[in-house]
Amino acid sequence: MGERRSTKRDLERYGSLFATRMQGVRSSAMRDLMAVTAQPEIISLAGGLPDTTTFPPELMASLMGKVAEEACARALQYGPTEGSEEIKSCIGQVMAAEGMRADPEDILVTTGGQQVIDLVCRALLDPGDVVIAEAPTYPGAVPSLCAFQADVIQIEMDGSGMRVDRMEEALERLDRAGRKPKFIYTIPSFQNPAGVTMVLERRQRLVEIAAEREILILEDNPYGLLRYEGEALPTLRSLDGGEYVIYLGTFSKILSPGLRLGWASAPRPVLDKLNLGKQGADLCSSSFSQAFVAAYFAAQDWRSYLRTLTELYRKRRDTMLDALAEHLPSEASWTRPAGGLFVWATLPAYIDTTDLLARALREQVAFVPGRAAYVDGRGGSELRLNFSGVTDDDIREGVRRIGRIVREQVDMYSTLTGVQAAPPPLTRAPERAPGRALEAAGDNTARVVPLRRATR
Ligand SMILES: Cc1ncc(COP(=O)(O)O)c(C=O)c1O
Repeated sequence: MGERRSTKRDLERYGSLFATRMQGVRSSAMRDLMAVTAQPEIISLAGGLPDTTTFPPELMASLMGKVAEEACARALQYGPTEGSEEIKSCIGQVMAAEGMRADPEDILVTTGGQQVIDLVCRALLDPGDVVIAEAPTYPGAVPSLCAFQADVIQIEMDGSGMRVDRMEEALERLDRAGRKPKFIYTIPSFQNPAGVTMVLERRQRLVEIAAEREILILEDNPYGLLRYEGEALPTLRSLDGGEYVIYLGTFSKILSPGLRLGWASAPRPVLDKLNLGKQGADLCSSSFSQAFVAAYFAAQDWRSYLRTLTELYRKRRDTMLDALAEHLPSEASWTRPAGGLFVWATLPAYIDTTDLLARALREQVAFVPGRAAYVDGRGGSELRLNFSGVTDDDIREGVRRIGRIVREQVDMYSTLTGVQAAPPPLTRAPERAPGRALEAAGDNTARVVPLRRATR
């Protein structure tokens, strides 16, 4: 968001010119917050920022030099819409690291994973079409879903990921109303924002349901390789073999979001439609970024930088979990992510985290209020906290400040209502057991607090 807001006069002048579909579109809360949180005095636990300070500047300089020497004209030129052969080979390596084999023909290189979401909506949705998503869902997907006027049904999650049984119930209800979703949008591993991971049995059931009912799944997987403990789980794409899964991958979290490079791997007819959409959107993704990634993969073991990131983020996650245990009152609960970048916290229902954010900004700390992750106004007492882009000291200080303002609210509530602070709920995040594998099937449910229930 720019600094200049539209005036009432502007809105009058341009209002009648906007497409109806933009009426329901609100800005992604994170985008709005980025403007505020760019101020250095604010400790931002709001973004989803990887720590790009860890990338060696001399390596960047030498890769740029290589691109200039070996691929100058090509890097400065338009490229094919589907992406260069070199980068598709890098993508093949990343997908192989997650147990998938993809034919280069089945890959479309995109301008970030974000573009995949937009292209999928563009290719599949007519106004009013149903999309199934998780509750909460990735806040950055909300503007796309709204812009394409999807009727989004959000399915509750627990510590084992999306409640696929609840999803089936929703599908039955839709069936009775003669409706069928166009696609199921899920982030099965280290979900943004909830930090939970879908267990194997649910993954299996989900792809079975998609095949039985011929519904596409959009599997959004930016974080699968950022695992801090436990065993890797198969992606939905590998379980389904590419029949009904549109797979979204990205270089943003394993290398750099500034490159703006992601990809889709999808059944061929779907990929062709995504390609058409991309031609209209931006012709092709940056040739320069693609050449940079190709040079990087040729010069380096990309997994070694991934290990650096994983070790750093694991420590920061632990710092955040310790700080939450120290500073949040017993009425609060939060998830314990085994990977990814986020913790999701739930406060007592009488605390509104959108209001709390205004108070937090005065204390120079920011988070994402929960409503950003729902299309239907739920999430009012929830919040998302990021630990990857912030130093340990800032994590501790940021959580301390949030803890203080939450306690103020809890105290005020007990003073006003005479209701004493409740004892810690049974669902409170458990004590940390460093190094324990938490995600073995059947083990992680008890270790992660249940998320709020869906109401529809
Ligand atoms: C779940 C999810 N999907 C997609 C994206 C988009 O990422 P990018 O466009 O940088 O690849 C993000 C970024 O944070 C994300 O968390």
